[in-house]
Amino acid sequence: MSKKHAPLRGFKYYTALESQLLHWVRQKFNQLAEAYNIKIVNPPLLAKTSIFQSLGEASDVVKKELYSFTQRDGEEVCLIPEYTRIFVEQMCYENTFHGTFACFGPCFRYERPQLGRYRSFNQISIESIGSNHYMKDIELFCFLRDFLSAIGITDYKIQINSIGTLDDRKKYEQTLKEYFSKHLHKLSDNSKAKFEKKAFLRMLDSKDEEDLIYINKAPKITDFLCDESMQTFHRIKMKLNELNIQFEENPLLVRGLDYYNDLVFEYNHMNLGSQNALLGGGRYDSLFKSVGGPDVAAVGVGIGVERLIHVLEKNEKLIDRLNQKIHLGIIPIEETEYLYALEIFELLKNKVCIDVLYDKTVSQRLKICNKNMYEYVMLIGETERLNQNVVIKDMRNSTSITVSLTELSNYFNNEKNR
Ligand code: HAM
Repeated sequence: MSKKHAPLRGFKYYTALESQLLHWVRQKFNQLAEAYNIKIVNPPLLAKTSIFQSLGEASDVVKKELYSFTQRDGEEVCLIPEYTRIFVEQMCYENTFHGTFACFGPCFRYERPQLGRYRSFNQISIESIGSNHYMKDIELFCFLRDFLSAIGITDYKIQINSIGTLDDRKKYEQTLKEYFSKHLHKLSDNSKAKFEKKAFLRMLDSKDEEDLIYINKAPKITDFLCDESMQTFHRIKMKLNELNIQFEENPLLVRGLDYYNDLVFEYNHMNLGSQNALLGGGRYDSLFKSVGGPDVAAVGVGIGVERLIHVLEKNEKLIDRLNQKIHLGIIPIEETEYLYALEIFELLKNKVCIDVLYDKTVSQRLKICNKNMYEYVMLIGETERLNQNVVIKDMRNSTSITVSLTELSNYFNNEKNR
């Protein structure tokens, strides 16, 4: 690896395997989305910075992590850090306020890079809009169960919490303020800064060990929920139990974005560590209205695709299955055989992965096939062309077999099923 050609900090080159997994995850997602009547939309990746600033000064995503710049006409724009806000903008623009939608694509956050945390990453964002019925929350859990099972991820842990209504939160924040003010001198600089910014709820997010002593003893949001929020949360938990979807209640779970109310949740996976959730989401019933749209309730989730890939890469069976393709190198010896080589390519292109090698000497081309571990190589000469056959060399055991052009397709069918 040469440093000179390294990508920007926090960005990455996707290896062929990672790209293959990304494609596979997208395929699996698209299939299931269709079955669930989830419509896929593609909002732009660049937007007015002010759109995201309206998400709340207290959240890091807005405060520190926006990739924003002034474009040539003087407008302040940013690369989207997440899909929910720009999705809401699109729905308001289209006057669409009912249904379930999804976005799949890149997001950008100027974060401190670490394992599973990049400055450019892909999100699947699923947004169910137009209903504040708690069964819509349950539908989302069912979709996530089916999706994660379809891609073979099973050992995750679900954490849920209710952060109540805006009023509940105001009361809770006041109590938190009083509580943390008593211990402020013992807290980390980061927490002190959050206190200064009145981001009392966000103080619960700290992973600092000293902070955690006080966070764990802090008043809990669950004691501040109004009757309706409490009942809704109770119903959600009952239904999850009835569906056998296991979860843990975490009264300290508040999430990093400001638009949520009532249900919030995160899924964690042991391969990612406790700070990097596989996915997270919740209800956001007031976001549409707060940005000038109509009163539209919504619930949604954002799934980190790189985090899925990180987990999937450890699934040897899956990787083996994806790599089960047979590779064939075709080496036409002279120019007179070029079109014959193409004819063979046409015949086999849907059955095996083909690399037709035209330049360099025959032995250099053979070396390339060897280095890339192609299972089969065909040397195409005049004799083969005139006899309308090929000599297939199995590189794994150095045996060769002559197969006629009419039998070729069948031959590779059988090889694939071996
Ligand atoms: P979020 O928790 O900020 O929520 O992001 C959702 C998921 O995106 C995370 O759980 C994680 O898997 C992935 N993610 C976030 N930042 C990074 C990063 N720097 N590198 C790699 N993956 C990352 C949202 O974005 C909300 N919009 C989710 C939502 C949709 N809520 C309602 N609807």
